[in-house]
Amino acid sequence: MEIMVAGHLCLDIIPKWPVGSLEALQPGRIVQVDGVAFSTGGAVSNTGIALRRLGFAPILVGRIGDDYFGQIVRQIYHDEGIDARYLAVSPGAGTSYSIVLSPPESDRAFLHYPGANDSFSPEDVDFTAVPGGIFHFGYPPLMARMYQESGAALEELFSKAKEAGMITSLDMAMPDPNSPAGRAPWRAIIARTMPLIDIFLPSIDELAFMLEKHDQELTLPLVREAAAEILQMGVGMVGIKLGDQGLYLRTSSQAGEAFGPAWAERELLAPCFLVEARGTTGAGDTTIAGFLAGIARQKTAEETLTWATAVGAHCVEALSAVGGIPHLTQVEQRIEKGWPQRPLKLDLEGWTAADGLFYGPLDQKG
Ligand SMILES: Nc1ncnc2c1ncn2[C@@H]1O[C@H](COP(=O)(O)OP(=O)(O)OP(=O)(O)O)[C@@H](O)[C@H]1O
Ligand SMILES: [Mg+2]
Repeated sequence: MEIMVAGHLCLDIIPKWPVGSLEALQPGRIVQVDGVAFSTGGAVSNTGIALRRLGFAPILVGRIGDDYFGQIVRQIYHDEGIDARYLAVSPGAGTSYSIVLSPPESDRAFLHYPGANDSFSPEDVDFTAVPGGIFHFGYPPLMARMYQESGAALEELFSKAKEAGMITSLDMAMPDPNSPAGRAPWRAIIARTMPLIDIFLPSIDELAFMLEKHDQELTLPLVREAAAEILQMGVGMVGIKLGDQGLYLRTSSQAGEAFGPAWAERELLAPCFLVEARGTTGAGDTTIAGFLAGIARQKTAEETLTWATAVGAHCVEALSAVGGIPHLTQVEQRIEKGWPQRPLKLDLEGWTAADGLFYGPLDQKG
């Protein structure tokens, strides 16, 4: 089954900051750095390149500018063995970039230019390129046309994907609450989109923000309540990324019609695989790559969740987003050898444990 990954795409420019913290950055002062790294970021590049490294040949769709940064993006895709011909080019806007200020002694800060992502539109996607395959779209909160007019263009995009007979998948991003994206009517945007989505894969922070469940700590009741609300809106399944607490999955009866009866009415939680964490950049996107790999290979819900958390753990083990992603056969071998998992802090009373997964009270097999 073929996979198309579309949406937010940017170029990360990462000066190698040798010592100190962001406080060294003062007006009139120079901070000497040790060179620079370029990497592509955003849902398209991270999920797309991760799928490529796992052994798939995804088609990547995004919008870049007619500029030098756009040429660097194409070169990186070329070096990864990815066909860049489906990228749309904006003559007016530049390629989106982030300058990542990442000193060793403080948290990272970003200078981000949205650029061509803001003019991405449903016309940018040629749905005939992968007939009947998977269509994954990432980060509407970082793409102005996708949340303006209460998400009309986002709904149009997924209507077209469904008309083309595709399996649809959506990931979110956390908007800046004080920006136009943060003030968009997210609950309404999600509600109109969910009936067109087979697989919704947000993180708990994004979902809590969009469902207006503010300032709540991460607990299973919060996750389960958010999932129940999303299912009510008509999605096939929701996989909620819980950071170092793993990945929660809840499916509807429609998921059984789309992916086979064993996918219907499921409630599962996969803990993280234990790794020495070096960097969580791209953890969400690469976890999604593992999940879509399971869907593409028609695996069970249990195997799909396990692949997703395993690929995410490989990501976290490396500093860069996709640097730690091996071929799928190596991921499988590591799981088969008995890769230990991280203990969970969540209260799992009423859940059953088996084969590295937890089965929830609403699970049809639980
Ligand atoms: N410390 C960790 N060790 C192993 N796996 C991890 C760790 N942290 C996160 N993961 C895996 O990565 C997945 C995605 O992480 P997270 O929940 O932070 O997603 P996200 O918020 O979408 O991330 P991103 O910031 O990349 O968008 C988790 O569901 C988990 O499986
Ligand atoms: Mg994410």
